[in-house]
Amino acid sequence: MSALFNVINLENVSVRYRAPEEPIGSFKEYAIQLLRQRVRMKEFWALNNINLEIYRGETFGIIGRNGAGKSTLLKVVSRVLAPTNGRVLIHGQVAPLLELGAGFHPELTGRENVFLNGSLLGHSQREITQHLPEILDFAQIDGFIDAPLRVYSSGMVARLGFAVATSWRPEILILDEVLAVGDEEFRAKCYSRMDGFRANGTTIMLVSHDMNLVQTQCTRAVWLEQGTLLASGAVADVISAYRGHAD
Ligand SMILES: Nc1ncnc2c1ncn2[C@@H]1O[C@H](COP(=O)(O)OP(=O)(O)O)[C@@H](O)[C@H]1O
Ligand SMILES: [Mg+2]
Repeated sequence: MSALFNVINLENVSVRYRAPEEPIGSFKEYAIQLLRQRVRMKEFWALNNINLEIYRGETFGIIGRNGAGKSTLLKVVSRVLAPTNGRVLIHGQVAPLLELGAGFHPELTGRENVFLNGSLLGHSQREITQHLPEILDFAQIDGFIDAPLRVYSSGMVARLGFAVATSWRPEILILDEVLAVGDEEFRAKCYSRMDGFRANGTTIMLVSHDMNLVQTQCTRAVWLEQGTLLASGAVADVISAYRGHAD
């Protein structure tokens, strides 16, 4: 057996957001109040002292209620967001599929978005052109590929996003509720692609509300609640702790 190789390491990671305390009607009103220093900001810790070690080849699940901090955690790992405190160490190239449509531009066509996303993942125009037929075949967008993304259904956006992010085997794949909007057939294709990646050492971090998916796909899981890890370890144990709490 090869030694466990730590690819994602979070040390005492905390994230603080600031948001205006009261709803502000317009931007003009906001600007005026800001100048008068009347905007009171509410500080909010979305993550509190998170420690995590994830090993090469694991599929790591994150469960928890809406607003628990799951997406914030994935953004920190994807380096879209810097933590307020703590350290994030990542070994390997990350392909993030964050909230639906993140990284996509609504006015660009599906095809243009493939090039945009492919280059964000670090691939050249030539490489993307070579992969394009395979990406289109996987995403099954058909007649819509030259239409602007804003006319796509959420399922189509998810299919295109997954197709681009996984056209090249990533070392670390981040999936934020991506599979939830896909149909059965598409999910089956995603699972088989994920199986192939895992066999080659890809590490996957996924957030889902589908406990069956977490149970069947993940090797370990954590339960996040109000920015704090309440349970971590074997998937079945973490799911039953979460369910026990919800009742
Ligand atoms: N940019 C932001 N500014 C202020 N608060 C935010 C921001 N993003 C998320 N939050 C808040 O942080 C908390 C955690 O959000 P999130 O990580 O999206 O949770 P989850 O993905 O588990 O539903 C929520 O209460 C949310 O309202
Ligand atoms: Mg979320």
